[in-house]
Amino acid sequence: MPLVNMKDMLAHAHKNRYAVGAFDLVNLDFLQGIMQAAEKARAPVILSLAESHFEYFDFELIMAATEKAAMRARVPVAIHLDHGASLASAVQSIRFGCNGVMVDASHLSFDENVSVSREVVQMAHGCGVPVEGELGYVPGVEGEDAEKHPGDIQYTTVEQASDYVSETGVDFLAVSIGTVHGRMKGEPVLDFDRLGEINAALGIPLVIHGGTGLSEAQYRQLIENGVTKINYYTALSDKGGAKIMANAATGGKLGYAHLTQGTVDVIAEEVERMIRLWGSADKAGDVLDHCALWKPVEHLIIYNAEGLDEAGADEMMREGTRILSGIPGVRAVFTGSAIQPDAAYRYTWLVRFCHPMVIESYKHHPDHVAFADNYFRPVAGDRISIDYS
Ligand code: 13P
Repeated sequence: MPLVNMKDMLAHAHKNRYAVGAFDLVNLDFLQGIMQAAEKARAPVILSLAESHFEYFDFELIMAATEKAAMRARVPVAIHLDHGASLASAVQSIRFGCNGVMVDASHLSFDENVSVSREVVQMAHGCGVPVEGELGYVPGVEGEDAEKHPGDIQYTTVEQASDYVSETGVDFLAVSIGTVHGRMKGEPVLDFDRLGEINAALGIPLVIHGGTGLSEAQYRQLIENGVTKINYYTALSDKGGAKIMANAATGGKLGYAHLTQGTVDVIAEEVERMIRLWGSADKAGDVLDHCALWKPVEHLIIYNAEGLDEAGADEMMREGTRILSGIPGVRAVFTGSAIQPDAAYRYTWLVRFCHPMVIESYKHHPDHVAFADNYFRPVAGDRISIDYS
């Protein structure tokens, strides 16, 4: 199951001076195309889901397929929430299976950005999940992705970048040095001096948004200056769209499946081209050797409920499921009653955590403490609790 820790993955890229592609996906064709390319090029890859695209798909449903694709891959994969807009969406994305999150408060003032980002970092680090923040603003110019990012560019400054990283504790920083979301108009001009200074001051993996449309030399220079994650979407969307238009132009009564035929392959070709340009091809084996696998924890309790009949125990489990499911890092809560009437323990909880760090953060979370102290422990003195990897 090469779903791996994203911090380890980007640390490897940072040290070995290449960039991992974070490809935004909006449907299964994108997911299949990205994975096909990563497997073919033997490259680590980040499957990225942008909150700004949530109107295009059902996030929970697409996450189930995304996680499955990562688990069955033979190359290292991380799953990232792109442009997360709030603490609540970061919590939800971790519940659905993201193991990296971006908090995008770049449109706010510096102080507000720090305060929102810090809150997300505290929550996510308690779940073992690394966080990308953004400082400065990367606007959009033209195309689907551009519409989501109105306004003017604000360049990242070196002084603010150092303060932002030390005050928030983000693991990766998205910088604004001249790229734009969507299609470029004219020759993009990038401020490599600024990027070089930020890289020297921070020494953490840097991220470029608006990866579409740069020259080979520009990609190379980005990577030489500390960029280790490049976000890429518009070119994939445009290639897929062009394929659909070409299918439509063949005439005849084309149905949905005929119109979209071949889109996976054109997306895969474009992803592979970028993977090779950014130097991540053939790194899969080495990355797997250097990355912790991303493994959930099963927090299992078997118990007897003193003084509660079957209906009372059911009610407690329903209430507990509601409360505990909302705690950050909890992916699912299962409850059950023994099938054998003479079982030594009558009831069970199985709480799935996204990462071993959650064992501690869950234990001390106020909702867990209140439920356990007031409801569960008084009746469940006879119990066994074990955490399984
Ligand atoms: P492009 O759409 O310009 O490739 O940018 C993608 C991006 O930055 C997503 O976060």
